[in-house]
Amino acid sequence: MNAYPLIRPRRLRMTPALRALVAESSIKKEKLIQPHFVVEGSGQTQEIATLPGICRQSTDTLVRQVEKDLALGIRNHLLFGLPESKDDHASGVCGEHSLIFRTLRELKKHFGEDVLLATDLCLCAYTDHGHCGLLSSGGEILNDETNEVLARAAVSYAEAGADLIAPSDMMDGRVLAIRNALDAAGLKNTPIMSYSVKYASAFYGPFRDAAHSAPASGDRKSHQMDIRNAREAVLEALQDAAEGADILMVKPALPYLDVIAELKHRVTQPLAAYQVSGEYASLVFAARAGAADLPAAALEALTAISRAGAEIILSYFTRQLHAERWI
Ligand code: PBG
Repeated sequence: MNAYPLIRPRRLRMTPALRALVAESSIKKEKLIQPHFVVEGSGQTQEIATLPGICRQSTDTLVRQVEKDLALGIRNHLLFGLPESKDDHASGVCGEHSLIFRTLRELKKHFGEDVLLATDLCLCAYTDHGHCGLLSSGGEILNDETNEVLARAAVSYAEAGADLIAPSDMMDGRVLAIRNALDAAGLKNTPIMSYSVKYASAFYGPFRDAAHSAPASGDRKSHQMDIRNAREAVLEALQDAAEGADILMVKPALPYLDVIAELKHRVTQPLAAYQVSGEYASLVFAARAGAADLPAAALEALTAISRAGAEIILSYFTRQLHAERWI
């Protein structure tokens, strides 16, 4: 192998044009998805202390927000519903009167195919105990019964106009249940973006603040993945692919680049990564404390996620990146 002085890697770093020419990866605006938190009522814009720059919004405010986002070039959106009332069987998760159903209808009425609407699908924001599934009288999550509710909700969201159904609950077999229910309802062209590899992470803190969805007791370790495992991620991803998931997601993103890189070689579905609330907040608060330059640090994190192999990135930086023309 040739070596210095014949080989000088710095040659290709001498000008911006050369660096751009040989760059191996890039962030693409059309591959970013902006998350939104939807609340009941009208005229609502509620700031979230641990998630600066992101608000809870009522449907009418969200319509205006999405209009502004579209003007910036943001087409892809992910919706989280934060209902006012919760119960033990998550009855607010779907149906024509449910918050997300009404919001999807409203957004589609205004923007049609100009927007892509993904809906997060999990019971945790809809149950009074805050768990991601229905509970037995002994407090155990009822996996298969939960799948039935998720499948009904998926059909309801698809009927309301969702372009992508994104189950984030981590029950076993839920992708199959959702796929079967969608097909049986004549919705065979509605794709599923599965949170296939979702870890029991400490980086969801600000989200749980935003969504008031922390479990009242216990944790999510019986369904979300153990942070120590990487090979198990392959099992989860292949399983979801076999059940009919169209897009596979890893979450969180930056702490799990090894998992993204591994899956890139193992699956053929498009791969997504969720730069979660705690990843976003750590950079925003570090920048506020003077410890980081926000655009540079955020772009470095997003580039790393893309370099590892994620084609689609869900990120709370999406709007700021567009508005301030970071790229
Ligand atoms: C719902 C859900 C969560 C997130 C996305 N969907 C919270 C959780 O599992 O506790 C986290 C997203 C984020 O932190 O930005 N289950």
